[in-house]
Amino acid sequence: MKQLEAFPRIPLAILPTPIYRLESISRRYGRNIYIKRDDMTGIALGGNKVRKLEFLLADAKAKGADVVLTAGGPQSNHAMLTAACAGKLGMKSILVLKKRGELAGGNLILDQIYHADVRFVDTDIYDDVYTEMERIMAELRSEGHVPYFIPVGGSVPLGCLGYVGCAREIAEQCQEMGIRFDSIVSATGSGGTYAGLTYGAKLFLPGIRSVGIGICDDPFADIALELMDGIRDLMDAEVSGEREDIHIEFEIGPGYAKPSPEGCAAVRRLARGEGILVDPVYTGKALAGFFRLLEEGYFEGDGDLLFVHTGGAGALFAVDLLPED
Ligand SMILES: Cc1ncc(COP(=O)(O)O)c(C=O)c1O
Repeated sequence: MKQLEAFPRIPLAILPTPIYRLESISRRYGRNIYIKRDDMTGIALGGNKVRKLEFLLADAKAKGADVVLTAGGPQSNHAMLTAACAGKLGMKSILVLKKRGELAGGNLILDQIYHADVRFVDTDIYDDVYTEMERIMAELRSEGHVPYFIPVGGSVPLGCLGYVGCAREIAEQCQEMGIRFDSIVSATGSGGTYAGLTYGAKLFLPGIRSVGIGICDDPFADIALELMDGIRDLMDAEVSGEREDIHIEFEIGPGYAKPSPEGCAAVRRLARGEGILVDPVYTGKALAGFFRLLEEGYFEGDGDLLFVHTGGAGALFAVDLLPED
């Protein structure tokens, strides 16, 4: 098996990110509940994509790219972080985003600060976005540029290596701290974080259950299995992801990027009890899903639990929380 160190990686994140016990949440549920602060990866407002971009942008550099293109929704954390990281490495970024809708502010402001070339495609379908990206890339090539394409969420096997690395980091921190987690919970949006964590858990945290909370209704079990096969091939490893490794639950509310009462309550609970910000699109809903599972007895028999905070705070400045009851 290839070690992670065998892959070109440009350090962008401040690692390791902290793990510590959530006191008020642990008290509320009578459990030991910990958080891993991947919202503190150190670029922009932090978040999971920085770990993926360390591998993806190293590949872009190795291929001589001078422009990075990626796609997302109008408030994409991934697109914003791509612009931030590409800029730091001296590359331009073009963000091709699904239609603007009513959304302004939030990550769109950060996209401007990071000097991204933001283009909107009036569609709900990523195939249309990718067609436009192909057109832009052909144009760039004809002008002598070398474009590098990153699909939505950076969820390709190379990007997922960032979360294989995160699983290894968690294993090291567990050893240092003298703790062991029975379950690890994370938000799932395009599947790469979950696939990387789950595959990495097989390698470095045997016996742990990796639970993904889907915040839209994509077929994440299939997506994760396919990505895990890709990771295995890339790492030339013997271990394969199996269906029984996959534990996907959903917490969608009224729809992707639409705030739910439970997600908004989770945002407020974590802010007021722990001082930590999660967002109404990804991490707030994932946390709401985690709380619901705790209440339903899903983790019965488990010992300590870990929630991976994957970032996203920018959306707090673009998506209004629902009023409190
Ligand atoms: C803040 C945040 N958390 C979690 C996710 C989910 O990660 P992934 O796309 O790798 O499933 C995303 C992006 O989709 C995100 O922006």
